[in-house]
Amino acid sequence: MDAKAEALQHLVDSSNRIVFFGGAGVSTESGIPDFRSTDGLYNQKYDYPPEEILSHTFFMRRPEEFFRFYRDKMLPLDAKPNRAHLKLAEWEKAGKMTGVVTQNIDGLHQAAGSKKVFELHGSIHRNYCVKCGKFYPPEFIRDCGAPVPCCTCGGRIKPDVVLYEEGLDNDVVSGAVHAITSADLMIVAGTSLTVYPAAGLIRYFRGRHLVLINRDATPVDSECDLVIHGKVGEILGSLS
Ligand code: APR
Repeated sequence: MDAKAEALQHLVDSSNRIVFFGGAGVSTESGIPDFRSTDGLYNQKYDYPPEEILSHTFFMRRPEEFFRFYRDKMLPLDAKPNRAHLKLAEWEKAGKMTGVVTQNIDGLHQAAGSKKVFELHGSIHRNYCVKCGKFYPPEFIRDCGAPVPCCTCGGRIKPDVVLYEEGLDNDVVSGAVHAITSADLMIVAGTSLTVYPAAGLIRYFRGRHLVLINRDATPVDSECDLVIHGKVGEILGSLS
């Protein structure tokens, strides 16, 4: 174990109030591409920029094209948790975590066993009729081809993910802020920290040690007590 991983192990051993703040880079080792890396979703070619497709306006005006992109690129239902997800769930079971705050919508933290997960951008595992609130599983969206109306009221079915132009859920944000403000060790990983308001939540951290684990540099590297440039699954997986 190299010196930085050893330093991280020491910080983890001496804390029982760890908060994890993660992004798409936490799931790339599960085979899900991130957004802004060279091989990321936003650097692939489509008729429209993906950030435009994943917007509320596009969802309302071009539902067929929205769901074609969403089904093709945003439903990795066979993906499995990797060593990062599993380690965080292990630490939660050991009573060491105040929570996992994630920008991801893949549900892999819960699949690994984490319970205190704050999904800032929602989840692909929940879909609701915007009119009557009826729940639909992700397989319904995967298998239904073109967008179909709610079978109860004929309303529009929408994935429970936060699209561009939409706000975050207040209860999720307050839960995430509480997990962050009550932590004494914050591990930020697998995120470019470029999308607000999510990225701004790390400002609520008041604890002793701020750690960053990211393959590429981020705007907050210089503010961190420990920066490890590498693969978060590998690094967390090497810790006890
Ligand atoms: N280990 C560590 N870091 C990684 C790994 C890995 N295995 N794989 C990728 N990374 C890093 C990349 O270097 C990059 O800095 O993860 C970061 C991913 O950044 P983005 O692709 O911008 O993803 P994210 O920060 O989660 O994006 C935030 O943007 O479009 C919105 O809603 C979307 O939630 C997403 C938000």
